[in-house]
Amino acid sequence: MKRPTIAVTRNGLPGVGIQRLADVAEINVWPDNVGPTAEQLSEFLAGAHGLLSMSQDVIGEELLDQLPDLVAVGQASAGYNNLDLGALQQRGIQASNCPGVLMETTADFTWALILAASRRIIEADTAVRSGEWVNVQFDYLLGQDIYGATLGVIGYGQIGKAVARRAAGFGMNVVHASRSTESDEISTRVTLEELLTVSDVVSIHTALTSETRHLITDETLALMKPTAVLVNASRGPVVDETALYKALERRQIFAAGLDVFEIEPIGPDNPLTTLPNAVLAPHLASGSLATRSRMVDMAATNLRAAIEGAAMPNTLTPNVTPRTIS
Ligand code: DGY
Repeated sequence: MKRPTIAVTRNGLPGVGIQRLADVAEINVWPDNVGPTAEQLSEFLAGAHGLLSMSQDVIGEELLDQLPDLVAVGQASAGYNNLDLGALQQRGIQASNCPGVLMETTADFTWALILAASRRIIEADTAVRSGEWVNVQFDYLLGQDIYGATLGVIGYGQIGKAVARRAAGFGMNVVHASRSTESDEISTRVTLEELLTVSDVVSIHTALTSETRHLITDETLALMKPTAVLVNASRGPVVDETALYKALERRQIFAAGLDVFEIEPIGPDNPLTTLPNAVLAPHLASGSLATRSRMVDMAATNLRAAIEGAAMPNTLTPNVTPRTIS
């Protein structure tokens, strides 16, 4: 019997996931660790039965119409706003993501951004390397205290909760804004407006949906304290980047730590790169070797199930009946 084909949109993925797929399928790996463009994707995926995708690969109707053989998409990320789930379901294609494996690593990195932005770590490092540091000046590079401050978490899912748990070590008061998750022993649920008004650190962990696109705008930024720090490790379009640039530039808020952007990647010509009070990272929050390996492994487990005619364990398309590959 002909073996199925699985396309993988990045080269050099860590862990044993790809090898586990190679035991049951022909693997067609994109030759670069920077993935295909939207135009390259349809040609690359022609004839594939399975796709191991990343959150940057846009899988929509137009592409799917060119892929009659596709039965499953196993995405190696928790977020899946790049997948048109309606279009996948309509075509009987299963899809999965990888929940539960990256929240601790992402929460660690979120705290790196919170601390770097609040305590001006990048500016401090630059000052030392450039020889600008001359003595211990009492008024030099002063930051904001984290200990005893209030943390506001927008989106209280697995990652938001992991970020909130860590706040105990800093003696913080924690509040969260969420449509679905009530107060618990760690955090008190408040409205978004109250969260923005009372928080010293605002950390965004909501999924990108039509409701959360541009949740942070000129108006919502105006509610924040002038000493507040905003961190986004969810999806860039949750924040209106132009509004944030203006708020940082005129010091309406103290600083921001950003791992995600409205259009990725950003280059050195992005205005945010001119701001000393913006700490910028290249969508790296889940980026530890162990976690990225687990993400690939989980996508592989889901794809193996699908090509064997079973339901994907982490399905996003529960109404799709698994198909066998002919
Ligand atoms: C995720 O898992 O959603 C991360 O942002 C990586 O894309």
